[in-house]
Amino acid sequence: METFESFLRTAPGEDLFAKCGRLSAALDTDAGAAARGLALRAAGPVGPRTLLAAPGEKPRPFLMFGSNSYLNLGTHPAVVEGARRALERYGAGAGAVSLYTGATDLVRELEARIADFYGAEDAIVFPGGYAANVGVLSALCGPGDVIANDSANHASIFDGTRLSGADAKVYLHGSAAHLERVLARLPAGGGGRLVATDGVFSMNGDLAPLGDIVGAARRHGARVMVDDAHGIGVVGPTGRGTAEAFGVLDRVDLHVGMLSKAPAGLGGFCAARAEVVRHLRLYARTYFFSTAMPPPVAGALVEVLKLLAADAAGREALWRNVRDLRARLSAAGFDVGPGGSAVVPVYVRDERRLAALHADLLDAGLYCNLVSYPACRRRECRLRLCAMKDHSPADIEEAAAILAAAGRRNGVLP
Ligand SMILES: Cc1ncc(COP(=O)(O)O)c(C=O)c1O
Repeated sequence: METFESFLRTAPGEDLFAKCGRLSAALDTDAGAAARGLALRAAGPVGPRTLLAAPGEKPRPFLMFGSNSYLNLGTHPAVVEGARRALERYGAGAGAVSLYTGATDLVRELEARIADFYGAEDAIVFPGGYAANVGVLSALCGPGDVIANDSANHASIFDGTRLSGADAKVYLHGSAAHLERVLARLPAGGGGRLVATDGVFSMNGDLAPLGDIVGAARRHGARVMVDDAHGIGVVGPTGRGTAEAFGVLDRVDLHVGMLSKAPAGLGGFCAARAEVVRHLRLYARTYFFSTAMPPPVAGALVEVLKLLAADAAGREALWRNVRDLRARLSAAGFDVGPGGSAVVPVYVRDERRLAALHADLLDAGLYCNLVSYPACRRRECRLRLCAMKDHSPADIEEAAAILAAAGRRNGVLP
């Protein structure tokens, strides 16, 4: 069976592009059908029912359970209005990198609001979320330093670690005890130490045990960076994320987050001490050498931050839906993991079965994410469903019923 790795590298004696031709041929076979579920495009606003189009087909409405726009802020009237005002005042694009005037005063306002949200001294906004992790890690860490990563961290954290040239260590997923052992084995008198972890793990939906992680880091002289891409606006008593849920907002050194999930825009940020943010502005190459965030995106995000700061973005309604979705899927017999966020995995653990199940769901009009290697280990492959604030109880009931029927048809449920 061909796998992801079959098309990763140029074979000996092959032309550089030969692997691309081999991949295209494989995708055009029936066995490549699984990948066709990755080629759907939205043909309208993302909401509980979203128009999606497969290549060469007319758009049709799908029950949408595969969007990270958990709070439906992309279509919130105040947010749309913020984008429109910015578009009219500044135009569509930034035209330059941040340090060459690309960062509008809207971006500066956004940074100030983000810093305030976390109780930090300052924040820096990157034009991309992936770029935020890569930029922060490669600016602050270098050869001689150590970065300890949770094994389930997002690819951008691993890529930033690699680019930094720091010594990379990996601890078992969610295990502060293993992290402690990894840190304890480091030689004294080496360079700087950083523990980097997702707050909410994007493919599992579970939370990093930040109280214990911060404790272990402090005992061994390490700083802590949390990428709370999927926690912002969703997790914690007021939606300030995983660090708030564990009561350690003021003990996390680098609050990294994405503006692309619940905030429904684009970009990433790091909120931290003012001197750290100053350093990042000059040394984070994904900031320094990359064009600033477009004004309409910044204008929308300023409105999003106002809603999040007031905890007025509909977090409670979202959580009602998360609980309902998890309860219905568990009752149907699915393994949905421990929970903690709006991401609900449905473990299948068999790639062929997963592909057949996903195709079946698409035929039935339900969209959710198919997650397999390289996004997770093959033997942990799964569907990934995301609850949204605007799902109605009937949407959730219908999605669970479609899944249960398809699960039985495809041998995932007895
Ligand atoms: C945990 C995590 N970090 C970083 C990213 C990258 O963010 P973006 O999609 O905004 O580039 C993502 C999203 O894919 C994510 O899930």
